[in-house]
Amino acid sequence: MNFNQTFLNKLSEAKKIVFFTGAGISAESGIPTFRGKDGIWNKLKPEELANFNAFMRNPQMVWEWYNHRKKIIHEAKPNAGHIAISEMQNLFDEVTVVTQNIDNLHRRAGSKNVFELHGNIERNYCIDCRTFYNEELDFSSGVPKCKCGGLIRPDVVWFGEYLPQDQFSGGEKASVLSDMFFVVGTSAVVYPAAGLVYAAKQAGSYIVEVNIEETEISSSCDESFFGEAGKILPEIVNQIKKLKLR
Ligand code: APR
Ligand code: ZN
Repeated sequence: MNFNQTFLNKLSEAKKIVFFTGAGISAESGIPTFRGKDGIWNKLKPEELANFNAFMRNPQMVWEWYNHRKKIIHEAKPNAGHIAISEMQNLFDEVTVVTQNIDNLHRRAGSKNVFELHGNIERNYCIDCRTFYNEELDFSSGVPKCKCGGLIRPDVVWFGEYLPQDQFSGGEKASVLSDMFFVVGTSAVVYPAAGLVYAAKQAGSYIVEVNIEETEISSSCDESFFGEAGKILPEIVNQIKKLKLR
C-alpha cells in the first residue's frame, strides 16, 4: 500500500491517536455487521430486538437473540485489525479505543484504554435495582431474575437509551485531544457516537477512515483507505515501524 507524504508526516508527528471503531472491525472475526449487504438489520428489526419496550414485551425473545450473539462472540477471536490497534500502543504516546462494539475483542487483543459507548455483552444488570450479574446466567426457569425479583437484561445500549456518561465523556475527551482520529469499520450513522468524528475534526484532529466502502462521513475525512481493516491496519503499523527506524 502507498501512503501519501501528508499521511506519513502526520503519523511521524502524532502523539495521541484515537481509534473509533464499529462492527466492521469485527467482521473478519466472523461477527456479522448491522448494515450493508449481509447486515443483521436487513433480516431483523432493531425495534423488535434492541430496545427496552421490545424487551419488556418479549424478554424471552430478546434474550434468545443476545444469547445467539454471545455464542458467536465467544467463538470469535480478535483479528489482525484489533491486534494492529493493540500494537500501536507501543508506537505512540497515547492510544485510545472508542468502540461502538459490545464484543470485548479490543480488550481481548490487548488494548488497554477502551471506552465502550454501547456497553458490553459480557455484562448484565437488574432493571429494578441495577445489581450487576456478570457470571453465566441461569435460563433453566426462563428469563433470569434478580434476587429482588427484577428482570436481568444485557448491559448493552438499546436504541433510544442514553450512552453510559463516563464512557461517552471519556471517549469525547480523547477524541478532541487526539492528533489523529481513525474511523474504522463503521457506517457512522448512529448518534451520538458518530458525532465524535466531527468533534475530533473541529478540534483539529487528522481524520482517517478505514472501510471497505464509502460512507456518509467519507467526504469529511482527511484520508480514506478502502479495504479490509485486517489488512490496512497492519500495513499502517509496518509503515510506522519503518518511519521510527529512520
Ligand atoms: N473492514 C473495514 N470495514 C468493514 C469491514 C471490514 N472487514 N466489513 C464491513 N465494514 C464496514 C461496512 O462497510 C460498514 O460501513 O463496517 C461498517 C459497519 O457498519 P454497521 O453495520 O452500521 O455497524 P456500526 O457502524 O458499528 O453500527 C453502529 O448501530 O445497530 C447499532 O448499536 C449498534 O453499535 C452499532 C451501531
Ligand atoms: Zn434487582
